Amino acid sequence: MLSAEALKEIDRAIAKYPADQKQSAVMAALAVAQGEVGWVSPEVMEFVANYLDMPPVWVEEVATFYNMYDTRPVGKYKLAVCTNLPCALSGGERAGDYLKRKLGIDYNETTPCGTFTLKEGECMGACGDAPVMIVNNTRMCSFMSDDKLDALVEELKAEAGAAKGDK
Ligand code: FES
Repeated sequence: MLSAEALKEIDRAIAKYPADQKQSAVMAALAVAQGEVGWVSPEVMEFVANYLDMPPVWVEEVATFYNMYDTRPVGKYKLAVCTNLPCALSGGERAGDYLKRKLGIDYNETTPCGTFTLKEGECMGACGDAPVMIVNNTRMCSFMSDDKLDALVEELKAEAGAAKGDK
């Protein structure tokens, strides 16, 4: 299911823990698998469970608890807007609503062209920078005014070469 390179990466994570506790690498393994497969499918969870010698339901518990894992397919760019209370009171909800209108989708939906998925994110530890969002779990974006949201979407569209079909 995973490439030799991905397995090596998982093995490196496993090596950080005592030999009888390789299940401690479950978060790293899921991240690697998601990076390669695109999402954490039931097959991915099963594979990770077997690889780490742990019950599949434990893997599922982790995958469904943390919102950085996608247990459903997502678009090329996952935009997670923090709507937890401090951000919600400081423009987070407004930023999310703006993106909904701009992309023509609701939270947990993907644009028809497959370029963007919109998500509500949990606190990202940057409440003072609200509105904040994170792209593909890795790129933090702070103080997201409408202008900055426009610029971000345009940049990502250009990067994807997928402007057609998106608003
Ligand atoms: S509540 Fe949004 S970053 Fe903390």
